[in-house]
Amino acid sequence: MSSLDLIQQYTQAAIAALPEPAQNLLGNSVAQKAAAIILALGLTRSVNRFFSKWTLQNWTTNQKWEPSRELILLTGGCSGIGKQVMEDLSRTGVRVVILDINKPDFKLPANVAFYQANITSSTDIAAVAATIRKEHGEPTVLVNNAGVGHDGTILEEPESKIRQTFEVNTLSHFLMVKEFLPAMIKANHGHVVTIASMASFVALGEMVDYCCSKASALAFHEGLRQELRYWYNAPNVRTSVIHPMWVRTPMIKVLTDNERHFRQPIMTPQVVSAAICGQILNQRSGQVILPSSQSAASLVRAMPTWMQEGVRAFASGALKKMRLAQQAEQNAR
Ligand SMILES: NC(=O)c1ccc[n+]([C@@H]2O[C@H](COP(=O)([O-])OP(=O)(O)OC[C@H]3O[C@@H](n4cnc5c(N)ncnc54)[C@H](O)[C@@H]3O)[C@@H](O)[C@H]2O)c1
Repeated sequence: MSSLDLIQQYTQAAIAALPEPAQNLLGNSVAQKAAAIILALGLTRSVNRFFSKWTLQNWTTNQKWEPSRELILLTGGCSGIGKQVMEDLSRTGVRVVILDINKPDFKLPANVAFYQANITSSTDIAAVAATIRKEHGEPTVLVNNAGVGHDGTILEEPESKIRQTFEVNTLSHFLMVKEFLPAMIKANHGHVVTIASMASFVALGEMVDYCCSKASALAFHEGLRQELRYWYNAPNVRTSVIHPMWVRTPMIKVLTDNERHFRQPIMTPQVVSAAICGQILNQRSGQVILPSSQSAASLVRAMPTWMQEGVRAFASGALKKMRLAQQAEQNAR
């Protein structure tokens, strides 16, 4: 008996064991076609996931994650998402170095070191890099997390703040990678994690500079991948980009202070940190959109124009509504 006959025999036996209404449903040709479509879609999804995963890993496998061999360099580790990532990683026993323009107002775990630096200055970066190398060795994981966000329309926002947004959120990624990527390339081992935003995909009013800087951060991540693979021949250096929606941190204090007028979901830093640490500890390249229910955000630009405008208008509308309510409250005081 061939294996096909055997499968057919087992399938018929399994169907015969089902209750009668279920047997009738399975005998129905429309139900059979629907089941075939669902199976085909499931198979397509699995095949897509397989190819995406292995393409992102450049068809290479990882050495086992060995905390004592790794050194994580994390920018903006004194607040919000960065602070949470520092805490979560330090609990796994790996050494973490945080760079921040502000000093920590909390006690550092024993395996975490802090250095004060302005990551928009290549002079500051070079000086702190020399100290890090001397005291800890070469970082194997770089998390470009530090960021700023200012309120205001294009006409309202001062030039200095617009420039700072680009310098911290985009330009610093170039400066940090110039300093720390060569050692990763040489070892063909490492990971560059880019903290972008949902704003990489959807531009909103009152945060145009921020959205531009985060669209650039995504392009930086995508281009870096190409250079690692085709220019530097370092296929084992991993790259990840994380796109969170709103996260409860000091950066969005204006929103969290006015949450009663802002009806969009706000995640905790813990959720975002879990995703970032998952990429690092599993040495997995990838693009992570948070919350995962919003994964379709990356498709926005493939939508018909009227739908794209609808998405942007919906997101901008929530901000504008919050701002009007905030102003009305201030005027009433
Ligand atoms: N909070 C959100 O809603 C949200 C959403 C999506 C993406 N993000 C991104 O997540 C990252 C972390 O943001 P957060 O919400 O934790 O903000 P945060 O303000 O709590 O923390 C940012 C940290 O970056 C540091 N920093 C700023 N400029 C610096 C500089 N020039 N040099 C060194 N350090 C500097 C700050 O001192 C601070 O510790 C940012 O890249 C941000 O754009 C945040």
